[in-house]
Amino acid sequence: MDKFVIRGGNPLVGTVRVSGAKNSALPCMAAAILTEDEVTLENIPQVRDIETERRLLESMGAKVQLGYGRAQHRTTISCSTLSDPVAKYEIVKTMRASSLVLGPLVARAGMARVAIPGGCAIGGRPIDLHIKGLEKMGATITQEHGYLEARADRLRGAHMVFDKITVTGTEDLLMAAVLAEGETVMENCAREPEVCDLSALLTLMGAKIDGAGTSTIRVQGVPRLHGARYRINPDRIEAGTFLVAGAITRGDLIVANCNPNHLGAVIAKLEEAGARVDILGADSVRVRADGQLRAADISTEEYPGFPTDMQAQYMALTTQADGVSVVKENIFENRFMHVQELVRMGANIKVDGGTATVRGPAKLSAAAVMCSDLRASASLVLAALVADGESILDRVYHMDRGYERIEEKLRGVGAQIRRMGNVFNPRESESAAD
Ligand code: UD1
Repeated sequence: MDKFVIRGGNPLVGTVRVSGAKNSALPCMAAAILTEDEVTLENIPQVRDIETERRLLESMGAKVQLGYGRAQHRTTISCSTLSDPVAKYEIVKTMRASSLVLGPLVARAGMARVAIPGGCAIGGRPIDLHIKGLEKMGATITQEHGYLEARADRLRGAHMVFDKITVTGTEDLLMAAVLAEGETVMENCAREPEVCDLSALLTLMGAKIDGAGTSTIRVQGVPRLHGARYRINPDRIEAGTFLVAGAITRGDLIVANCNPNHLGAVIAKLEEAGARVDILGADSVRVRADGQLRAADISTEEYPGFPTDMQAQYMALTTQADGVSVVKENIFENRFMHVQELVRMGANIKVDGGTATVRGPAKLSAAAVMCSDLRASASLVLAALVADGESILDRVYHMDRGYERIEEKLRGVGAQIRRMGNVFNPRESESAAD
């Protein structure tokens, strides 16, 4: 199992480039199920979740070309035949986002069998809202042997109001609605940029969608969709992670190839914490910090609020800030697994339910620590970058799920980080669900 060895103390200086958004690429790959034609996606990140999605689509009979050469961040997917519309447990258990195929499979093939995702590292994460929406659209759903089976000759447009804002739920039902008969109105939708990415691809494929990016989405169903070529937007969570890396190391970092418009809440918080952030044109942000960072509270919210996927990384920063920072996690239960490892490195953090209270600044000292999920790993990398001495991070396969060649990117701007074990190959390592 690969490990990272990180020696702390270097300020990060220079330019780092952001890859395509994993959480956009996953639903966009699932959208290829909706057409017999080819769908080509550019700016696909080379991360393990994408490889898992490729395996999932291939297991259903799709043909997926996915290059791993340096210059190939492109995939072409052909679902001209879908011989086996089943998402098997072996794959779903490693990536909960596999439930994104439920809606498109029912819409295209009239049936889907999808393994029910088990519990995972950051809480229960049910899919009841996906099911409720499909039932409203006329699907019959049964549950047997750990699988959900959904059937519908043709889905019907419906009016639905999400009980809770869900990102993949919005995406899943949007993909179901585009081929349904008649109009679908979805209220209380997720407004995340990744929903907009998916909607833009579906529109290029011939779907009629209005309102993506707002809380009400209207869809006029069409009988069929055609192929398309689409470029995935930059990953706002990877970009946010680099911004924190620049600030926590008191560096001077340009985060290039990002979309500053998607980073509002993170940038505002970094400024409140004492970093200087400048937006350089349409696709770059510069972060600088030289003096003492200041405590600043966060409360995770749906977009455009502070993203839950940045909570762990931001918490690493608060350990270096002067004063008391309160970090509230409102989206997921049990998303504080980085805390005990940060404490082992010397951080002063107390958790009470969904609230963590961080007292800083703490002098972090290098330690052997364990990554427990994707964003927790990123938090530990950030802490190790400022810890005194050499930290060893175990189970970096969690990191490889969502960050492309993070160690190379960080090394390029001055970090002392190396991978122990094999060079990351997205086709190899096995994962745990989170
Ligand atoms: C997506 C992102 C993930 C991010 C999360 C919140 C992808 C592939 N993953 O996850 O990185 O952390 O959004 O921004 O895009 N819920 C239900 N019933 C459901 C669905 C969700 O109760 O049917 C609850 C969840 O338990 C959670 C909340 O709704 O408390 C939000 O979850 P959701 O937005 O669905 O997260 P994901 O889409 O799984």
